[in-house]
Amino acid sequence: MAKRRGNPPSFSAVLAAVLYLLSFSPGASDPIEDPKIRPVTDLADHRRVGATERRFRAFMRRYGKEYGSREEYGHRLGVFARNLARAAEHQALDPTAVHGITPFSDLTEEEFERAFMGIAAKDDKGGASAESPTAPRMEVDGLPSSFDWRKKGAVTNVKMQGSCGSCWAFSTTGAVEGANFIATGKLLSLSEQQLVDCDHTCDAVEKDACNNGCSGGLMTNSYKYLMQAGGLEEEKSYPYMGKQGECRFNKSLVAVRITNFTNKPLDEDQIMANLVHHGPLAVGLNAAFMQTYVRGISCPLICFRRWINHGVLLVGYGARGFSILRLGYRPYWIIKNSWGKRWGENGYYRLCRDHNICGIDSMVSAVAATLATETG
Ligand SMILES: *[C@@H]1O[C@H](CO)[C@@H](O)[C@H](O)[C@H]1NC(C)=O
Ligand SMILES: *[C@@H]1O[C@H](CO)[C@@H](O)[C@H](O)[C@H]1NC(C)=O
Repeated sequence: MAKRRGNPPSFSAVLAAVLYLLSFSPGASDPIEDPKIRPVTDLADHRRVGATERRFRAFMRRYGKEYGSREEYGHRLGVFARNLARAAEHQALDPTAVHGITPFSDLTEEEFERAFMGIAAKDDKGGASAESPTAPRMEVDGLPSSFDWRKKGAVTNVKMQGSCGSCWAFSTTGAVEGANFIATGKLLSLSEQQLVDCDHTCDAVEKDACNNGCSGGLMTNSYKYLMQAGGLEEEKSYPYMGKQGECRFNKSLVAVRITNFTNKPLDEDQIMANLVHHGPLAVGLNAAFMQTYVRGISCPLICFRRWINHGVLLVGYGARGFSILRLGYRPYWIIKNSWGKRWGENGYYRLCRDHNICGIDSMVSAVAATLATETG
């Protein structure tokens, strides 16, 4: 069979070129920053194991990791090696982002999901229960091509949920912080711990989908709780502990009240319009690619939209994100996460827009808030 010139390059050739380019990115000499992902599952290759262990030690130094025993060290080294292989798989499936070593590279996928996510939705509606009001459709013409609530001062610093499946509480406080900023012009950091300790609200339809501290919850449940309880305290009066404790809510310390909330319609143009007009939105997504995410615009070829397991905050969007190898400039969402500033892009995640990727469109909600003193 004659080979013609000008055949389109195969997927694996493109992938190899991407990985080749990545290996020339700045910081490649730093074993942590080095995004070249080498498969490390062949334990017979001692040189490779040595290289993996050197990267593991650099990872431990960078993130201040300590392990109690030799066994634990060996176990975590094995997990780290498997996560390097997983990062390489993610890199192949998500070539416009960079995947590699993150602060969570010593946790198995199951440990990570248990400790750092926490959406309790069981149904494929993503917890959008029938009794929650749905917002009316909005005009989408004339929206800006890019938008960022951080630049308007509506977003608090990136927080850290720690080893506690309380993402739902951070997603909720983020939405309330933004709504309060829009209502009052003041940015207050609000208490996740109040939700973790005090909110046990269940979904009206999915009756076993209840908010349950570090074991998960739903943002729409927490709005109902906040409307009933009378509001949310500030972070400084009810600080985050990272574990569930006794409820210490004190109604006289409420800083923000919730007047109402809505589930947003499910297409991305409507999400944009609601974001611009109503403030940062609480969203759920499938976090399958996030443990290994380092930077860039994540646009995985496969990311099931039904497996929503993580609650985050949508704070903006962009029109043309640079992507490696001109695989295309891609429109993207800007997402605030609650895994600290050392994860992702200073704590943020960019996910490509217009593809309903990772279920970003399936669990979206907003609140309306007022300053507590204004309503007495
Ligand atoms: C609640 O907060 C108020 C105001 O700071 C304080 O006077 C009161 O003692 C607190 N109540 C409880 C039960 O801690
Ligand atoms: C909440 O919003 C819904 C729809 O947006 C509206 O029908 C309802 O009356 C509102 N509830 C309150 C208490 O304002």
